[in-house]
Amino acid sequence: MSWAQWTREVEVEPSIYAADFCRLGSQVEALMDEGARVFHVDVGDGHFIPPVTIGSVVVEALAPLVHQREGRLDCHLMVTNPDEQIPLMAAAGADSVTFHIEASPDPVATVALARREGVGVGVTLNPDTAVTALGPVAGLVDLALLMSVVPGYSGQRLLPESIARLRELRELVAPTCRVQVDGGIGADNIAAVQEAGAQLIVAGSAIFGAADPSGAYGELVDLVH
Ligand code: DX5
Ligand code: ZN
Repeated sequence: MSWAQWTREVEVEPSIYAADFCRLGSQVEALMDEGARVFHVDVGDGHFIPPVTIGSVVVEALAPLVHQREGRLDCHLMVTNPDEQIPLMAAAGADSVTFHIEASPDPVATVALARREGVGVGVTLNPDTAVTALGPVAGLVDLALLMSVVPGYSGQRLLPESIARLRELRELVAPTCRVQVDGGIGADNIAAVQEAGAQLIVAGSAIFGAADPSGAYGELVDLVH
């Protein structure tokens, strides 16, 4: 199984970091009823980003619910040591892991580790890291994620330079590599990030911050189809 098989041409990925954790399962189910298939899981370790967020224990709880309906868990590792977390995430039921280039001493080896663990693999970078830093693994990964905010929290505004950086990333990676964008995406800018090359579009507060998250998801999908 791979990203190429899981995803439609454009996927809007709800980021559960912005969910109401008291009602996480029912919110995920409601979004699946609306057609959401790929869920973005923000793993923060309290070192790479200030808060400890979601870890393998929560992935293990969600995986049966999501997998029984052909959904996928796309795990964004905002952690200092991705090589320690990747086996734990794979064992918990993650379908894909995305690591930060700033956090891996040997990115080619980190990609190989994820492959051995049998999960999809992506790479990402902070807004102040040059897109060209992904060069050594650009041909090896399933997805390349452009962070359009400083990683750490949901609910920030998209950094305007992200649009030009998305175009640069699209040029850098292989045509088969999915380009993802994460941070500050909503109805006002989702068409612009798609036009700049994003195919996997993460949205947290724009979905879960709405009075009707399923309706907000459906509206975002309509804007990119
Ligand atoms: C930020 C996370 C994002 C975040 C997106 O550090 O990586 O995935 O949850 O949330 P919004 O869409 O609200 O910016
Ligand atoms: Zn994220």
